[in-house]
Amino acid sequence: MRFPPSRKFNCMSYNNILSESQNGITTLTINRPSKLNALNKVTIEELHDAFAKADQDPSTKAIILTGSGEKAFVAGADISEFADFDVAEGANLARQGQEILFDFVENLGTPVIAAVNGFALGGGLELAMSAHFRIASDNARMGLPEVSLGVIPGYGGTQRLPQLIGKGRAMEMIMTAGMIDANTALEYGLINHLVAQEELLPLAEKLAGKIMRNSSVAIAEAIGAVNAGYKEGVNGFDAEIAAFGNCFGTEDFTEGTTAFLEKRKAAFPGK
Ligand code: COA
Repeated sequence: MRFPPSRKFNCMSYNNILSESQNGITTLTINRPSKLNALNKVTIEELHDAFAKADQDPSTKAIILTGSGEKAFVAGADISEFADFDVAEGANLARQGQEILFDFVENLGTPVIAAVNGFALGGGLELAMSAHFRIASDNARMGLPEVSLGVIPGYGGTQRLPQLIGKGRAMEMIMTAGMIDANTALEYGLINHLVAQEELLPLAEKLAGKIMRNSSVAIAEAIGAVNAGYKEGVNGFDAEIAAFGNCFGTEDFTEGTTAFLEKRKAAFPGK
């Protein structure tokens, strides 16, 4: 595999996340281990900023999202921040969160892989489900426990979980507020791969490496076309036709088809 020259930096400006970029991959690590990486307001805002920066950075071809420590990916939205909210504040919390983080991540043109390294509960599972696909380590536990707190999933969980595992299984998980282990998540199709904890990030990087060999422009168009099928009032087939057409105007398409005909590996300019 050919990588661009090694480039590594850490964004020191964040309090609750770490951002590291190397060889075309930006790894975002949610870093509040003492609170099992629970998503408070600051963390959500920082994640938005870090995802936006990674997406705008032309050298970032894939994003890996994980949690710090060995116990949790994210143990949910920070319960201490919303325990005294009223009806309007509750709705606002869900709306803002969906806009700035969960929908935002799902609709990024840069591929996002969630590497679930432990508990992914409530907003944590919802965040993993916003990623374009998920892998997990064998200690991962996933669930939407919100009804045990007298609330429902508000960051897209009632929509994305049935999309990913089917309505009946999603209903059971939501109504029981129970957790499933990584094997069950694999069986349900909630995660694509299951590995030992020490193999999780290497696998994420390997998958990112495979993705990066392809046209980033075409991948962004493909993400948009797949997502279109899940959007209210949008015809996914029409969206696919438009996205397919868009590819024909790109330098990546010229390079990809020319390289094939010349029997050589494509060197995509990403434009
Ligand atoms: N919001 C705020 N704080 C959280 C949190 C959340 N969602 N999840 C964990 N924490 C905090 C705990 O309050 C505790 O903080 P403290 O040490 O200051 O008391 C710390 O993280 C460690 O959690 P703890 O509960 O002691 O760990 P555990 O190993 O006993 O249990 C869980 C792990 C994941 C089972 C448990 O933390 C839990 O049920 N968390 C809430 C999950 C949830 O309902 N999420 C959905 C929210 S909408």
